[in-house]
Amino acid sequence: MTPEDLALIDFYLDDPGKFLFGQMSWIDRQHALTVAKTILAKSTATTEKIELKTLVTAALLHDIGKVDGDFSFISRIMVGIIRRVKPALRGKMAMRYPATFWERFRYGLYVDLTHPARGAHMARTFGLENDIVEIIRHHHDPPRLGQSIELTWLQLIDSQN
Ligand SMILES: [Fe+2]
Ligand SMILES: [Fe+2]
Repeated sequence: MTPEDLALIDFYLDDPGKFLFGQMSWIDRQHALTVAKTILAKSTATTEKIELKTLVTAALLHDIGKVDGDFSFISRIMVGIIRRVKPALRGKMAMRYPATFWERFRYGLYVDLTHPARGAHMARTFGLENDIVEIIRHHHDPPRLGQSIELTWLQLIDSQN
């Protein structure tokens, strides 16, 4: 992580937020930083009224439901392929308690499906603001009429990164 990344984390996350951020794998932390920095860059060129602190904090924490060790290198790739090619298969194959090594990727599918709810639960338990908890909970939902502008931004920029 660069000094710029560390400053960003320091500014936007309180101690519980830093703890949750630190539980993610390196690859998910990098993804969260990319989403947060993209949001900051775009925010300078918008006339939309956004709660930037809420949005950037949510960006840093949106994938905390994926904890370091949930995915092996291979299972991350397999889950990514299934999500793109046949997302409905995730619900059929997801497995909360895999028994064998070969079922590990099915646990990855379970995490892929449940990480928004799991992350929201973790954020709530750690006392994060309700707005942030709800952005985490809904970040993979189909966009709904009347949802917050912050959720819309996160959904869009997350899907591009
Ligand atoms: Fe996610
Ligand atoms: Fe994400």
